[in-house]
Amino acid sequence: MKLTAREMWIFMFVYGGDYNPEQWPESVWAEDVRLMRRAHVNRVTVGVFSWSSLEPEEGRYDFGWLDRVMDLMHSNGIGVVLATPTASPPPWFTFAHPEALPVTQDGVRLVHGSRDTYNPAAPAYREAARRIAGALAERYGRHPALTMWHVHNEYGTVSYGPETDRAFRLWLAERYGDVATLNHTWNSAFWSQKYSTFEHVLAPQATQYLPNPAHLLDFKRFSADTLRDALREQVEIVRSHSPGVPVTTNFMLPSWNHYDQWDFAAEIDEVSIDHYPSARDIEGETHVAFGADLARSFNRGRPWVLMEQATSLIYDYAAARLFAKDPGRLARNTLQYLARGATGSLFFQWRSPRVGAEFFHSPMVPHAGEDSRVFREIVDLGHTLTALAEIAEPPAAGRRVNNTRVAIVWDSTAWWASETKAMPSDDLGFLPAVRAAHRALWWQGVASDVVSLGHDLSGYDLVLVPSKIAASDAEAEALRAFVDAGGHAVLWYFAGSTDENLSVRPGGFSGAFAPLAGIRVEEHHPLAADESIELSDGSRADAWAEDLQTHGAEVLATFTHVPLAGRPAITRNRVGAGTVHYLATRLDLPALRAHLARVVAEAGISPDHPQAGDGVEIVRRYAGEGSYLFVFNHGDGPRTLDLTGHDLLTGRDLDGPVEVPPAGCLVLR
Ligand code: GAL
Repeated sequence: MKLTAREMWIFMFVYGGDYNPEQWPESVWAEDVRLMRRAHVNRVTVGVFSWSSLEPEEGRYDFGWLDRVMDLMHSNGIGVVLATPTASPPPWFTFAHPEALPVTQDGVRLVHGSRDTYNPAAPAYREAARRIAGALAERYGRHPALTMWHVHNEYGTVSYGPETDRAFRLWLAERYGDVATLNHTWNSAFWSQKYSTFEHVLAPQATQYLPNPAHLLDFKRFSADTLRDALREQVEIVRSHSPGVPVTTNFMLPSWNHYDQWDFAAEIDEVSIDHYPSARDIEGETHVAFGADLARSFNRGRPWVLMEQATSLIYDYAAARLFAKDPGRLARNTLQYLARGATGSLFFQWRSPRVGAEFFHSPMVPHAGEDSRVFREIVDLGHTLTALAEIAEPPAAGRRVNNTRVAIVWDSTAWWASETKAMPSDDLGFLPAVRAAHRALWWQGVASDVVSLGHDLSGYDLVLVPSKIAASDAEAEALRAFVDAGGHAVLWYFAGSTDENLSVRPGGFSGAFAPLAGIRVEEHHPLAADESIELSDGSRADAWAEDLQTHGAEVLATFTHVPLAGRPAITRNRVGAGTVHYLATRLDLPALRAHLARVVAEAGISPDHPQAGDGVEIVRRYAGEGSYLFVFNHGDGPRTLDLTGHDLLTGRDLDGPVEVPPAGCLVLR
């Protein structure tokens, strides 16, 4: 029996990248296949931006080249992740459907010339997208090379303008029922914005001065729902033509917040991410862990797909430079992703185009060709992944990477709320707060997942709530139930100050969580951008301070600066066997590490491996019931670690002290 590509590779790590053969003469394809085989490539992602090559005129298709690519890949044992090309409409679309082009907040209509030039709310765009997705699904849905559907690319387009206004009004009418309820929820009497009909509501385009934050928040929700609906339509189409073939869409992590990650994950079979750290130092390594932990969590603990990474660092916009990854780093980073649950590694992209917007972006086959450091590292990595194939088996039920006991709350409403531009400080960002919490745990060797307060929290001992200004009653109740059951929680300043529609909860800030934390926050005291303060326990902090009173909580540290000297800065409330810590200021990394170390210990959690932390990353990944330790030394000097097991990278059996050099890694069975 001839196996399909999907069956053949089920227990292997996937390896390959975005492949754009339509940009090259067919004579290059044979060379590509030779190099892919040399590098042990077993997957390519095809068609991501191929719309104009597949449908050169509206309704006229040219599938010949793709037929040949699919067959070529299949005959060489390479599986295809087939993308729907809907992120980049062809030039004919601009002329056929001018009303469906994206409009910026300033009212500028964007035209083709780059990518993502469509309004996701425009019916003409959605129809064109369904049509090309349907044509592809019909033609290739049962092709033996097909291993996965990749719907769209990095959903994230937000548009204003008349088409959006129409769709936004329908969405609002559905949400609020009548315009009076909308006026009440938005408090549109403020600055005389009361609406007499939904027909007068506009998407929040540029206006004279500050916009209404509740209006902005609902627009973000609407935009996210629009993208989710666009995704859902295509998922239904490709599924109907290829039962059993998994469907994904690639999340751009971690900065893309145009949709709700939990909602998106619920639509697809496997979460995939594109991840491009830019830091050259150890920050980049902590970022790899962050991206991987997010992806795994969005996929509810199951193995997830690394759809794109780069062989060099991503363009550093601040420095206006494209930095190379140091030798060895692309393999090391790949192992870090694997440790935290990746099903392998795909790169953007296989081969760089001779010219095109991203022609200096780093690929697997660089312009220099196969005789290059990068391609040699790609070949070596292909061998390594083949040697590690036994780890590709999915974990047995209930087995979690690193036996994680800590969860950080990830919530798009909170993220969107923090970006409505009406906050008392610019330093209240959601992403930086979540990242700081993750980073502080990473430095202690404690792994974490992200969760929603709507999830079952019973598998965790500690839940961190780093930035969640908007919280519903149900979310407050969920955290209370977790703590009542003996759980431990840490709340950051400002959390729960408003309800889910950004209405301030009266009677004291952090109102949704204040009773649980045993505190009452009376006043905000934001700090200046360059201001740093010291707490009574020596912790350093910045950005934010609150004047709070305790109502049952004990004070662990106080402020020392005027005018808050002596007032509580860190508190702890004991609730049965559980505790709730409250941070009324933004602790710097050493202080946050120290504080979370205390809480982690209090919750009875220890790192999965005693020697993890301080730049030594040790992650346990389960394959079936068996487990593997991935060990990395990210420090500047060698580290001697006590390790037992068979190192799959070198074939050595270890039992006792081992010196791991800087940038060294081991994978122990
Ligand atoms: C990704 C995108 C790719 C490519 C890459 C460059 O976000 O999906 O198409 O543009 O970035 O880093």
